[in-house]
Amino acid sequence: MPEEPLVLVEREGRIALLTLNRPKALNALNGALLNELAEALEALDRDDEVRCSVLTGNERAFAAGGDIKQMSDSTVGDMVERESPSPWRRIAAIRKPVIAAVGGYALGGGCELALTCDMIVASEAARFGQPEIDLGIIPGAGGTQRLTRAVGKARAMELVLTGRRIEAREAYTMGMITRVSPAETYLDDAKELARAVAAKAPLAAQLGKDAVNKAYETMLDQGLDYERKSFLVLFSTEDKEEGMAAFTEKRKPEFRGR
Ligand code: CAA
Repeated sequence: MPEEPLVLVEREGRIALLTLNRPKALNALNGALLNELAEALEALDRDDEVRCSVLTGNERAFAAGGDIKQMSDSTVGDMVERESPSPWRRIAAIRKPVIAAVGGYALGGGCELALTCDMIVASEAARFGQPEIDLGIIPGAGGTQRLTRAVGKARAMELVLTGRRIEAREAYTMGMITRVSPAETYLDDAKELARAVAAKAPLAAQLGKDAVNKAYETMLDQGLDYERKSFLVLFSTEDKEEGMAAFTEKRKPEFRGR
């Protein structure tokens, strides 16, 4: 019997929905799942029909972290081999916006995966945390870096050093996530946000994502320079002509991604 895909992909007009599909293991992120996810997102990056993706799990778990069973008998060599090339880096390099829709647990690598996405819409029932310290390790996919940039040292340090699990409301207050929604509507709300992004000029959305991410990687002066150059690049696009003409003609723009 053919094996079930570890990541389900559905297209809904200009958005795509990716669903992590290891429900029995609470979507624990083994090497195969991460590679499949990176491949699926790269394929969507090449697909002109799709402009924004939503990544989700299920109501119990977005993802409960790296696969502890796989890691428990992994050597350094096994881990390094699994990361060549690193699926985490491939996921972070996706050009089109990706929105995480978090229903239940987003722990360890699951929390880091959500933080690698560009926005996070969480159900009130979602739980975030970096519990790696309880396993004698530390976060290894951005939990000490992206989380710290998102919420600041004081809060990130506590989460990384105690492994404390937090609710969606606290994550929102900390500035870690974009929106908290009722459990019944979080996925629809994430899709609605994705549709709103997908209605915009695709190249502007991609360069906007890239420039915001640069704020995490560069000094202010370099970041401002990068932003200005990206801004100027967009002046050579048809969508810039269309967007400004539509404003003047008082109509809705028809963006084509050119
Ligand atoms: N890896 C592998 N399997 C996992 C898993 C994980 N991270 N999380 C859950 N599972 C499996 C469980 O082993 C269990 O499988 P079996 O039925 O075969 O025993 C199944 O999923 C259901 O889990 P539980 O019975 O534990 O469910 P629960 O509702 O009692 O508890 C939970 C839920 C609190 C999320 C608990 O499963 C848990 O604490 N999971 C581990 C969380 C964790 O430590 N994550 C960090 C991993 S390290 C990491 O992520 C490193 C990195 O940076 C990449």
